[in-house]
Amino acid sequence: MSTKSKTIVSTEQSQSAQKQAKFYIITYGCQMNSYDSQLMSSILEKEGYHRAQSIDQADIIIINTCSVREHAVNRAISRVESLKPLKKKNPQIRIGITGCIPQQMKNSLLEKLPFIDFILGPDNFQEIASCAKDTNGIFTDFKESLIYSKYAPPARGNFPEAFVAVMRGCNNFCSYCVVPYTRGKEKSRSIDDICHEVNILSKKGYKRVILLGQNVNNFNDTGKRLPYLLSKIVRIKGIERIGFLTSHPAYFPLETIDIMKDEPKIEKFLHLPLQSGSSKILKLMKRNYTKSSYISIIEKVRNKIDDIFLSTDIIVGFPGESEDDFSETIEIIKKISFDSAYMFIYSPRRFTLANSFNDFIGKEVKNQRLRELIRVQSEITKKKSKAYKGKILDILITGKNKKNYLESIGISVYNKIVVVKEQINKGEIVKVSINDVKGWTPIGEIFSRKGDIKRKKVRN
Ligand code: 5AD
Ligand code: SF4
Repeated sequence: MSTKSKTIVSTEQSQSAQKQAKFYIITYGCQMNSYDSQLMSSILEKEGYHRAQSIDQADIIIINTCSVREHAVNRAISRVESLKPLKKKNPQIRIGITGCIPQQMKNSLLEKLPFIDFILGPDNFQEIASCAKDTNGIFTDFKESLIYSKYAPPARGNFPEAFVAVMRGCNNFCSYCVVPYTRGKEKSRSIDDICHEVNILSKKGYKRVILLGQNVNNFNDTGKRLPYLLSKIVRIKGIERIGFLTSHPAYFPLETIDIMKDEPKIEKFLHLPLQSGSSKILKLMKRNYTKSSYISIIEKVRNKIDDIFLSTDIIVGFPGESEDDFSETIEIIKKISFDSAYMFIYSPRRFTLANSFNDFIGKEVKNQRLRELIRVQSEITKKKSKAYKGKILDILITGKNKKNYLESIGISVYNKIVVVKEQINKGEIVKVSINDVKGWTPIGEIFSRKGDIKRKKVRN
C-alpha cells in the first residue's frame, strides 16, 4: 500500500468544520456495490459527516465502481472525468474512487486521473473515514476477515428492503471473470455479526433482507453453512422475507432448497447463472458443470418447488462460441423457461485466462446473438408473467408506482414485482388478486390486508 500524505488539518475550528462536511456517493455495478456504498455512508455518518442531497452540495464525492465489463469501466471513468471542472473550481472538494476499478488499476488509475485524492479497493472501506478527512493515496490490500458489526449499514433509501453481505470474494476463477482479482479470496462473516445486523434492520422496520455473496452457497462460518444461517435469520422477528444471491451451479447443495421449501419467510427464488448452454463453452469458461448437469439441478429444484422463480445470467460471444454453441444456449433457455435473465456480450478483462483466448467473433455477430437471446427470453418472461392472471399473492409493498403515484409497487415471495392499484404504506404485506398483466408486470387489487385475515381468524 502506498500513501501520499497531504496537508494535515489540525485546528479545532477546522475539525468542527469537517464534522459538518457533506458526502455524496455515486454507485455503479452489482448489489454488493450498493451494499458497500451503504457501508461507507454508515462509516461517514458515524464520523459526523452528513449526506448531501446533490453532488454540487458535496465536500466529499465518492464514485464506487464496477469493472466486470469494459462498458461499466468506461461509464464510471467518464463520470469521474466530468468532475474535473468542479475540482478545479473548488480544490477543497475531496474526490475518491472506490471498488473494483481501483483494485484492478491501482497506480495507473491515479496517473490517468491525477486530480483524484484517494482510491480504495473493496476490502479497504474502513479507510474511508481518514480519506474523507485528509489522507490521500492508494489503499488496495486484501484483508483476511470481515467484521462489519460496528458499521451495520443503515440501508436507507431501499426501505423496507436491505442487502446484507454475508460473504465476499470468489475462489472460482471462471476464465472470463475479473471478480477474484478485484474482490480476493472467499471469506465469510460470522453468523453473530450477520444476525446483529439483521436485528438492527428489523428494529428499524425493515421487512426484507437479501443475503449477498459472490458465491453465497460457499458461506462457511466455522463449518456452519447457508442453510444454518437461514434457519437463524428466519427466527428474527419482523423480518418477513429472506432471499439470497448468487448461487453457483457447481457448488449448489440441494439442502438449501429444502429449507426454502419449509420456511415460508424464505423466498422461492433462485438466481443460478448458466452463462452458456454449450458444454464446450462451459469448459472453456471453467465453470465446472455441463449443460446436462445444469439441467439436472433445475429438474431436482423444480421437483422440490415446482413454481420456484428462476433467473440466470448468460454471456454471448465468448471466444470460440460457434453458431451451434449459441443455438444450444437458445435451446436450453427455451427448455428451462427462466422467469428472468441478465444477458451480456463477453467483455475481455485484464488478468483473466480468457483474455489470452483468440476472439474471432465479429462485433456485429455478438450484437446479433445478444438481440436474438433477449428476444427469446422476453417472449418467455412475457408468457410466464401472463400466467399470474387470476392468482392471489402476498405482496410486500416496496414503494410507489413511479408511473402512477396513486398505485403501489410490491414483491411476492416468488420475487415477482407487481403493481397494486392502491396507495399502501411501504412495508405492509397485503393479499393481492391479480386481474391484469401488462408486459411483464402483473397488476392487482387488494384482496385483503394482513389485519383483515387476523380479524377473520378471530371471528372463526
Ligand atoms: N464479460 C461479460 N459478462 C461478464 N460477467 C462476468 N464477467 C463478464 C465478462 N468478462 C457476467 C456473468 C456474471 C455476471 C455478474 O456478469 O454473467 O454472472
Ligand atoms: Fe466471477 Fe465465476 Fe466467481 Fe461468479 S463464480 S464471481 S463468475 S469467478
